[in-house]
Amino acid sequence: MLIVNNIEVIYDDVILVLKGMSLQVKEGQIVAVLGANGAGKTTTLKAISGLLKVEEGEVTDGTIEFMGQRINEKAPEDIVRLGIFQVMEGRCVFENLTTYENLMAATRTRRNRKQIRERFDMVLHYFPILKTRRNNLAGYLSGGEQQMLVIGAALMARNRLMMLREPSLGRSTIVNTQIFNTRK
Ligand SMILES: Nc1ncnc2c1ncn2[C@@H]1O[C@H](COP(=O)(O)OP(=O)(O)OP(=O)(O)O)[C@@H](O)[C@H]1O
Ligand SMILES: [Mg+2]
Repeated sequence: MLIVNNIEVIYDDVILVLKGMSLQVKEGQIVAVLGANGAGKTTTLKAISGLLKVEEGEVTDGTIEFMGQRINEKAPEDIVRLGIFQVMEGRCVFENLTTYENLMAATRTRRNRKQIRERFDMVLHYFPILKTRRNNLAGYLSGGEQQMLVIGAALMARNRLMMLREPSLGRSTIVNTQIFNTRK
């Protein structure tokens, strides 16, 4: 599905942070990117999701292809529409919205109501605790619940490829098992 081929990333026109980065993800696969602090893991994910641009970063060499299409010049919103969803690290929820509203906010790039409903049921099936928190403000959820919520939001957006930054950070084994079991 995803082929990152030999990319180079430069921030602010001068700071070279990635060189010769390549990776491939096949359908149904979980691929982990490991590396020391500052190695460029987050930069790699931002290069794929198109979010580098908002930080004055640029892919200056190499190619990124998703489902046979070159995506390295595309805008982040178009990349989301193609089905790549980057889950932000650090419980990035809308704190003043409820669980339900957070999930619905993630469907902004979709139209089909029936599919949205199906996805909603699927998210509650994977993370039943969200059902009981449905009308609670996301800001008052526990850390693990917020992590379930951000992944639930990614599932609502009909992603084909989900990119998680530090998905198991500070989570219980049960939550981690639930998170990794959502691969389908
Ligand atoms: N917006 C930016 N502008 C300039 N330099 C940046 C920017 N973002 C990251 N960097 C630099 O790029 C390098 C790679 O950072 P990155 O965040 O990709 O590392 P990481 O592998 O995710 O590290 P960590 O394990 O600490 O999360 C670091 O040296 C960092 O200082
Ligand atoms: Mg990082």
